[in-house]
Amino acid sequence: MWNFQEIEEQVKQEIAAVADAKALEAFRIKFLGKKGLVQEIYASLGTLPKEEKPVVGKGANDLRNLVTALMKEKAGSLQKSGVKEDAIDVTIPGVAQLQGHKHILTQTVDEICKIFEGLGFVVHESPEMETEFHNFSALNIPVDHPSRDAFDTFYLETKDPDAKGRYKLLRSHTSPGQIHIMKEFEPPLAVVIPGKVYRPDAVDASHSFMFHQIEGLLVDKDVKFSDLKGLLTEFCKRLFGKDIKMRFRPHFFPFTEPSAEVDISCYICGGKGCSVCGRNGWLEILGCGMVHPHVFEAVGYKKGKYTGLAFGMGVERMAMLKHGIHDIRIFYENDIRFLKQF
Ligand code: PHE
Repeated sequence: MWNFQEIEEQVKQEIAAVADAKALEAFRIKFLGKKGLVQEIYASLGTLPKEEKPVVGKGANDLRNLVTALMKEKAGSLQKSGVKEDAIDVTIPGVAQLQGHKHILTQTVDEICKIFEGLGFVVHESPEMETEFHNFSALNIPVDHPSRDAFDTFYLETKDPDAKGRYKLLRSHTSPGQIHIMKEFEPPLAVVIPGKVYRPDAVDASHSFMFHQIEGLLVDKDVKFSDLKGLLTEFCKRLFGKDIKMRFRPHFFPFTEPSAEVDISCYICGGKGCSVCGRNGWLEILGCGMVHPHVFEAVGYKKGKYTGLAFGMGVERMAMLKHGIHDIRIFYENDIRFLKQF
């Protein structure tokens, strides 16, 4: 009932006439499609006398293999010869693509984090919406501390009853990240936490209601102040160059004791005094100290078991110092003439 020889001839003739991808697809549908010839032959098996079944079955298999092989061969030769309708005119001038790159603040974050990764730290994230517990109480910041004032912190109004006691403010520093990390992990810990922070400051050349910080935290048994000094000295040399001089000035933060601020010698004038350093030869770059025992208590660490160091720096400030930028607002204006310099 099926003349396979004839069918084979027909297949060979038809494939020879196929000249493009569209015709090849039509050929495939005609023979291998759901309603194609091969299927039709298979479907007819049921109606055939018993002795014919194996012959026709084999014929259908052979036909399917033949069609597949011919199609493969054809596809190869079509590709090689380059089918006209899909061809590209390579002589048409291209459309220039504007290539973007990372914002200078992102580059600065990456550069700083990379230095700390090289020193064994892990980069972590922490939420921008915070609770008073994480942003203040756990960090030993008392209820009457001025930074808790609504003039110094953005408080969030929420009508969601489920949010009660969870999201209350926009973090005013990245230090609540310390609390999240310590609640989640047991020491030894070495993390840096970059991110945005928010303070309701009037915007001027050195203030913005949103800016970026990078927090650092290292907790283990026996961490000493000399570790803090050594670590930050190495960091500053890697970021600003090995000739940079540093000084640690005593300072106060509620969540570290003792605390210090770190200055570097002005990289512009080398410490002689110029307009960038306000003529005193030093530039303040970060706050730091040894983790206060009350903070360990707040996260549930056993008293006296661990010691730790912490530090926090402003990313905009670092970028401004490194690149001689005088106005913080320019970071956020999206002026391509400024951005493409970096
Ligand atoms: N959170 C402090 C600030 O925003 C910086 C800091 C971090 C100080 C960690 C000491 C230790 O000013």
